[in-house]
Amino acid sequence: MPGPYVVAVSSEKGGVGKTTLATNLAIYLKALDEELPVTLFSFDNHFSVDKMFRIGQSPGSAAVDALFAPRPPEDLVELGQYGVQFIPSCSDLESLRRKARKVGDLGRALAASGLSGIVIIDTRPDLDILTQNALFAADRVIVPVKDAPSLENCKNLHDFFDRQGLSRRPLRILPCLIDGRIQYDGPFRNPHELLRAYAINRGYRCLEGYISKSPKVESLNTNPEGKIYPVLTYGRNTDVHSQFSQLARQVFTDMRSTGRRRCADLHQAAQSAAAAENRTLTRRLASLAATCPGCGQNLPVSGDRHAFYWEANERAGFLDEACFTALVFRLAYGQQDAGDRAPLLELFRETAAQSLYALRCEETSPAGSTYRFFRFDDEGREISRRQIFSHPEDQTSEVLRGLFDSGVVNRDGSLITFCPAPAKAPGSILEKSAYRNLRALFARMTEHLS
Ligand SMILES: Nc1ncnc2c1ncn2[C@@H]1O[C@H](COP(=O)(O)OP(=O)(O)OP(=O)(O)O)[C@@H](O)[C@H]1O
Ligand SMILES: [Mg+2]
Repeated sequence: MPGPYVVAVSSEKGGVGKTTLATNLAIYLKALDEELPVTLFSFDNHFSVDKMFRIGQSPGSAAVDALFAPRPPEDLVELGQYGVQFIPSCSDLESLRRKARKVGDLGRALAASGLSGIVIIDTRPDLDILTQNALFAADRVIVPVKDAPSLENCKNLHDFFDRQGLSRRPLRILPCLIDGRIQYDGPFRNPHELLRAYAINRGYRCLEGYISKSPKVESLNTNPEGKIYPVLTYGRNTDVHSQFSQLARQVFTDMRSTGRRRCADLHQAAQSAAAAENRTLTRRLASLAATCPGCGQNLPVSGDRHAFYWEANERAGFLDEACFTALVFRLAYGQQDAGDRAPLLELFRETAAQSLYALRCEETSPAGSTYRFFRFDDEGREISRRQIFSHPEDQTSEVLRGLFDSGVVNRDGSLITFCPAPAKAPGSILEKSAYRNLRALFARMTEHLS
């Protein structure tokens, strides 16, 4: 899956020309190669992209937030003016941000979206999780700077790449909104040369050229019709026209010379991680005790089966629910036999599945063993503890023998921790995030008791 070549236009500084650049770049790229699929979207909610590209009035069904729930590209994009396809903007940025939880989510989603060609992302003037996702997915990040303060802001972008362990190679500064009337004496004759020198001095890479400030271009964005017109068709006699042409050619050449796509790498890394997780899960499942230490039955890890998961030292397995509740009933209430207390046992069964438990053998002699039993809430906080003595004739000693005498756990004070397993698929408790949470709970319980 090669995935699209992704260009993000980004700067924390507002009003430096990001949106103008992103929207026009899409059109100039399409003009360079009609066959190239060009897709554009914005993480901002000012709807400039929609106003510029939408044909007709009716908005499509999907918006940018749909990117994070992969769909076929035809459901995601709207074919817009000038042959550019766009993903409609999203008005609710808060809910959009909630969908992009991890920094690599967008890259993975783009790889899985089936989009090809080039994707251009216009970002907001901040480094929120959406911008971070765009930066993380980008093969090229164009950073417009218009003056010294906006160049200072670039440090945060570069730092972000460093913090994420990413190569800074995609980042390119582009002087924008350059006023051609300003001239200096000395080695740097104009603002774009000065900005370029500042940037290089800080170790930043720059794109060739710059974008001039042009009253004509400004009027294409702000006019009584409330429309946004492209430079290619309405500003051909401006410097900006030839500057955008040159920029598009650079981006196009860079794209052609980039073999691997960043989002394809992210997708592949996610797949490798999922495969590794599967192997870990298979290993975990294979190392489980094959039978219930209480009744000796085989306990399938999938299928509708009520069971409790137990772990001790390096060993783990499932206990049949009936064995476990009988044991806990005995340990927690000192009941030898449910007998005529069946309703109480039933009540207990219902609440048993909301707790976690720990058990250890504290002392043993031919007459019997002393156990300490602990009950915890679902956040690993101790609710109660109890000490009981069990002699060999106890009904529940069957389960205890299964756990302690058949080599599952030692009677040396080792702790066994228990938790209810999901009824439909007990084995799913060993899956990545469920297991991570469980280990954290067990660690909390063990630490509390040590
Ligand atoms: N080359 C240009 N010449 C003159 N005016 C321009 C040029 N490019 C952009 N502008 C004007 O500058 C203003 C800011 O441009 P734009 O909205 O593209 O910046 P932005 O970085 O996306 O802003 P924001 O950070 O608010 O999203 C707009 O009024 C736009 O019309
Ligand atoms: Mg903008």
